[in-house]
Amino acid sequence: MNIEWDKLGFEFMPTKSNIRFTYADGKWGEGRLCNSYEISINVAANCLHYGQAIFEGLKAFRGKDGKIRIFRPDENAKRLNSSAKRLCMPEFPVEKFIEAVKTLLQDNIEYVPPYGTGGSVYIRPVMFGTTPQIGVASSKEYELVIMAMPAGPYYKGGFKPVDAMSVTGFDRAAPHGTGTIKCAGNYAASLLPAKIAKENHCPVPLFLDPKTNEFVDEFGTSNFLAITKDGKYVTPASSSILPSITNKSLMQIAEDIGMTVERRPIHISELAEFAEVAACGTAVVITPIGRIFCGDQVFEYSKEVGANLQKLYDTITGIQYGEVADTHNWTVTL
Ligand code: PLP
Ligand code: COI
Repeated sequence: MNIEWDKLGFEFMPTKSNIRFTYADGKWGEGRLCNSYEISINVAANCLHYGQAIFEGLKAFRGKDGKIRIFRPDENAKRLNSSAKRLCMPEFPVEKFIEAVKTLLQDNIEYVPPYGTGGSVYIRPVMFGTTPQIGVASSKEYELVIMAMPAGPYYKGGFKPVDAMSVTGFDRAAPHGTGTIKCAGNYAASLLPAKIAKENHCPVPLFLDPKTNEFVDEFGTSNFLAITKDGKYVTPASSSILPSITNKSLMQIAEDIGMTVERRPIHISELAEFAEVAACGTAVVITPIGRIFCGDQVFEYSKEVGANLQKLYDTITGIQYGEVADTHNWTVTL
């Protein structure tokens, strides 16, 4: 094993093991640590045709005190179950999920980046229907596989502003345009607008509401947050965005430090008024947005990281690395 910890990006990397559970005869079996990334499924498996496939994303961090902290795994377990419910898939017990993540991390402990490198372990659970069938119906058997890999910044360069672009004209292109599920197939429709944004030198696609294209929904991989000129934390209320655990945590932190938090529809005309804008999510953490290209308009924010985003970033990463008191008991120590 020869990992350059401070050069890590956000890419697939095989580690020692993944943990697998099989659902059959109406119940989940015991977890098996598996040293292979291969899986054999029938070509008629439901997930390949009808998209019964959901996933999650969470992180674990090695602290200054040497302890490994998992950030809010109960929230990911609950969201996995709400996605499962929406796609007629079986729920997975929350405690069993947390235990599985712990077992996986313990077995892959040498892949948890050292403290001070800025890295973390990204944990990716994926659940999919495996029953071979050709009629449209829900699968009877499922696999839940949880993988873990060391990760650095999602966008190259780390914590500095990047550009975003709203690409419209794709009906239900946003990952969550069909509801608030974290569903593997959903993201495929976001690839083309994301490609167009990237071709226009904007790494981050911004999705507007699918009905009117007049309200901000979310970014391709993350929620939208903005700080108003009078220091309020504003984030969209919308039924077609993923309920981000990072955003939920940041709203709490913002309240804790005395900021007013507003969760409400955000009209695109307001983009001209904000002092700071950012994307937030497990993979992107807080990524400040430098400019937003929206139709024939360009909205510009600071080229430097704003003071409010810096404070929010320092606090959430401080809690994750065990440097700031975890007053809400968000982290689970290995
Ligand atoms: N929105 C989308 C479309 C995402 O893919 C993600 C990442 O999972 C988020 C928002 C942020 O959610 P979280 O903070 O729970 O990672
Ligand atoms: C995450 O932040 O966990 C995500 O799932 C974002 C993206 C890689 C899909």
